[in-house]
Order: sequence, then C-alpha cells, then structure tokens
Amino acid sequence: MDLDRLVNVDDFHAAARARLDPMAYDYYRSGALGERTLAENERAWGRYAFRRRTLVGVADLDARTSVLGSDLSFPVMVAPTAFHRLADPEGEVATARAAAAAGTVMVASTLATVALEDVAATGAPRWFQLYVFTDRGLTRELVERAVAAGYTALVPTVDTPTIGIRDADQRNRFVLPPGMELANVTRVLGPDDARSGSALRAFSAQFDPSLTWRDIEWLAGLCDLPVVPKGVVHPDDARAALASGAAGVVVSNHGGRQLDGEPGTADVLPAVVDAVGDAGVVLVDGGIRRGTDVVKAVALGAAAVLVGRPVLWALAAGGQAGVERLLGLLRDEVLDTLRQLGVPRLADLGGAHVTRHP
Ligand SMILES: Cc1cc2nc3c(=O)[nH]c(=O)nc-3n(C[C@H](O)[C@H](O)[C@H](O)COP(=O)(O)O)c2cc1C
Repeated sequence: MDLDRLVNVDDFHAAARARLDPMAYDYYRSGALGERTLAENERAWGRYAFRRRTLVGVADLDARTSVLGSDLSFPVMVAPTAFHRLADPEGEVATARAAAAAGTVMVASTLATVALEDVAATGAPRWFQLYVFTDRGLTRELVERAVAAGYTALVPTVDTPTIGIRDADQRNRFVLPPGMELANVTRVLGPDDARSGSALRAFSAQFDPSLTWRDIEWLAGLCDLPVVPKGVVHPDDARAALASGAAGVVVSNHGGRQLDGEPGTADVLPAVVDAVGDAGVVLVDGGIRRGTDVVKAVALGAAAVLVGRPVLWALAAGGQAGVERLLGLLRDEVLDTLRQLGVPRLADLGGAHVTRHP
C-alpha cells in the first residue's frame, strides 16, 4: 500500500475496506439501527461555519495543548476502539506506537486484543477506557492493573447499558476470528471462552444496566487517576459527573453505535461546555474527519477531540505507519485551519471564531 497516495480519511476508509475481512469491516463501520446518529455525527460539524480574521500574523503556529497532565502536539487523541488485531497483526501495540510518534495519547479499550500491560510496554502515553462490569471484582482488578501499568487517566464508558444493536453484525453473526481474544479479560471468561467465537456473547452479560453515578463515585475513590466518563451528552449528566468526582467528561454517543436517533455530538457540545464551565475538561468525539472539525470543536470549548474509525481505517490500510500518516495529515489540517482562520495559537481559539449556520 502506497500510503502517500492516501490524503484524507475517505481515502483511508476505501483502502481499509479493500483489505479488511468483510465481517471486520462491517463491525468497524456500523452504527446502531438505522444509523441516523452515525450520519448526524459527521453532518453536525458542517452546521458550524468559521468567522475568519485576517492579517493577524500567522507565521508562527502552535497547536500544542495539555489535557489532564498529558501533552498533545495537537488536540487530537486516539479514541478507545475494540479489537485492533482485526485490522493489523500488531493490533493495539501498533496504534499506541503511532499515537506516541504523533505526540498524542491513545485511550486503550477494555476490549483490546492485546493486554493492557503489553500496550503499556510500548511506553506510549496512555489512558485506559474502562467498562464497569457486572463483576465489580473484575472491574476493580482492571483499574488496579491500569494503575500498575502506568495509565494516567481512567475513561469509564457511560453510554453502554447494553451493547447497541447493529444490523450488519447480527447478519454476519460477528465473532472474533480464531487466534484473537479479549486479552484484558481472559481471567473472567477463562482462556478458552475468551478465545472462542462466542466470547462476545458470553461477555455481553458483563455490561451492567444497573450502573448509576454512584458507581462513578466508587470508581473515583478506587485510585488517584483522573476519571473522565465517556458518553455524556446532557448538561445535567455533565454536572452529575463532576459531582461524582469526575475531572471532566467526553461528549460522545459512541460513534452512533448505541442509541440511534440522538443528535450529532457537535450539536450537544456547547450545552455541556456551559454546564462544566471551569470545573473540568470537556473532550468530544464522533464524526471528526477533518482538521476543520477539530478546530470547530476546540472553538466550541472542547479541550481536545478523539477519533475512532479514522484510526481503524488507517491501521487496516498501513498498520503503525498508516496511523502515523493519518495523524500527521490531521495535524497538518489543524495547523492549516488555524493559519487560514487567523489564530496562531490554539489557546486563542474561542466562540468568536465559529457561528452556526441558520
Ligand atoms: C469499531 C468500534 C469499536 C469501539 N469500541 C469502543 C470501546 O471498546 N469502548 C468505548 O468506550 N468506545 C468504543 N467505541 C466508540 C469510540 O470510542 C468513539 O466514541 C467513536 O468511534 C467516535 O466516533 P468516530 O468513529 O466517528 O470517530 C468504538 C467505536 C468503534 C467504531
């Protein structure tokens, strides 16, 4: 694969589609039910337009930032997504190395196909996405392992009382191929189950519909890491998160894979930013495909964004080098957008730089 010919997320998507097993491709691409939210996520960024300033002096640009103690070379992080070995034999290790090379953080998923300790061994800057499982002992154990392995923030996902219904996965009877496992949770399933085709189904029972903010409070008390619940879209839930000890929230609808029919995250971000104020950080993901989307998100008050599917496409297209190229392209686009917009430093970006289309 000549990665130099891939110049945007759509190119990576097409290349990935050509290389991936159709079952894996469908798993990565799908949204829940009618996929309205999946589509809205991308569309919603387009509802904002820039208010450009001119002759500001944009010879020197600085897109660096820092989020909860993690330095980012530009405000894009790698979203937690499951099963990277479906895309590349090195799986999450390749993604982590690419994120580190690009000067950003990988949020590693609980549902990784490489154990969290092996991701940590790359030395890449890392946060850990946590599913709070029915088995709280297992949950606590995952937290302890993440702390011991040097992860610097915990990201409990709060939009998954149960796994969303995705038509293609049902049609395909999605299973992990032989040789791949839910590497972080072999203990609870037992190595045979964790490797078997039915692992996912066996595991679904671990998604706990009884979760409340009290569980986030419990989690925040388990360790000293900042806790950033992911999957908040309502301002009252953002307030509840902070009241439960969270250091911020990730505005997310799980890339349209959970409740179909909710708005794109760009549409709900401003109200969450208002609710959080100075009391925490707000991150956002969903449908971010261009540097312009990133800059709009930061202008609307996000500290940084996360990208999910684009990284999976890049991993499938070119492994670690593919993800490095994708993140490099996004960084170039962010810098270009700041320059065109008349904002030399990310810190100067604000609400005055965007407006909503009527
Ligand atoms: C294939 C796939 C797997 C995902 N797995 C997880 C996961 O294990 N944990 C989680 O919190 N979010 C998961 N997500 C959601 C992402 O973290 C993120 O919210 C979403 O992908 C952002 O939207 P985007 O794909 O449009 O960038 C997954 C998303 C995809 C596409």
